[in-house]
Amino acid sequence: MAKCNVVPGHVAVIMDGNGRWAKKRLLPRSAGHRAGMERMVGLSGHAFDCGVKYLTMYALSTENLSRPEEELKGLFRLFREYFSAHAETLKEKDVTLNVIGDLSLLPADVAEIIRKGMARTAGGTRGVLTLAIAYGGRQEIVAACNEAVRRGKEVTQEEFEKLLWTGELPPPDLLIRTGKEVRISNFLLWQAAYAELYFTDTLFPDFSDGEFDEALQSFAARDRRFGKV
Ligand code: IPE
Ligand code: IPE
Ligand code: MG
Repeated sequence: MAKCNVVPGHVAVIMDGNGRWAKKRLLPRSAGHRAGMERMVGLSGHAFDCGVKYLTMYALSTENLSRPEEELKGLFRLFREYFSAHAETLKEKDVTLNVIGDLSLLPADVAEIIRKGMARTAGGTRGVLTLAIAYGGRQEIVAACNEAVRRGKEVTQEEFEKLLWTGELPPPDLLIRTGKEVRISNFLLWQAAYAELYFTDTLFPDFSDGEFDEALQSFAARDRRFGKV
């Protein structure tokens, strides 16, 4: 359990550094993705035990879809292997599994496994695990704009937010990025406007429950002003 008095309601994680984790061990990148997948499963259990209600994890960006075919094949193989089992575990924990992104960019059978996982866990009351897969923040904003145009009426900020893929989620309170880079890489561009940011050099497969707790403690010490004094 996190020793933390202020637990953020919504934590978002950019899971970066799988490839470098593998390289350090002279392993193929696919071994890093497998280790990252294992850590994703572990961390998602821990975060809900800490009292986090919404956990959103960036697993694959739209831009990642331009990686070499061999790497993508390996990633899709991992999704096939892990997705259904993880959905079953979440179902047992009463957590809803949600996916944001453009599923039409994925192999049809992978998209189908994802849809089944979401249907299997629908209505879980303990929290929501959202995986961002084939996700891009700019693409999401453009899709929402196009939907607003289709509806033929100007929208307010609140109405616009509902049109985003995250329409049912509150904005992230804490945004963690592992793997040393200090950038957002097209993740939750609109939603993270007032998120507290936490960057760590730790490569995602090494990002332990204990280090997650440290990020929560850092969050608890922040003074969120939202532009006010
Ligand atoms: C993050 O790890 C996972 C995905 C983007 C799919 P990377 O694959 O980006 O790992 P590095 O950044 O090359 O180490
Ligand atoms: C961001 O990592 C995307 C995910 C973690 C899924 P990248 O490895 O794609 O980011 P860049 O290329 O370093 O910005
Ligand atoms: Mg990376």
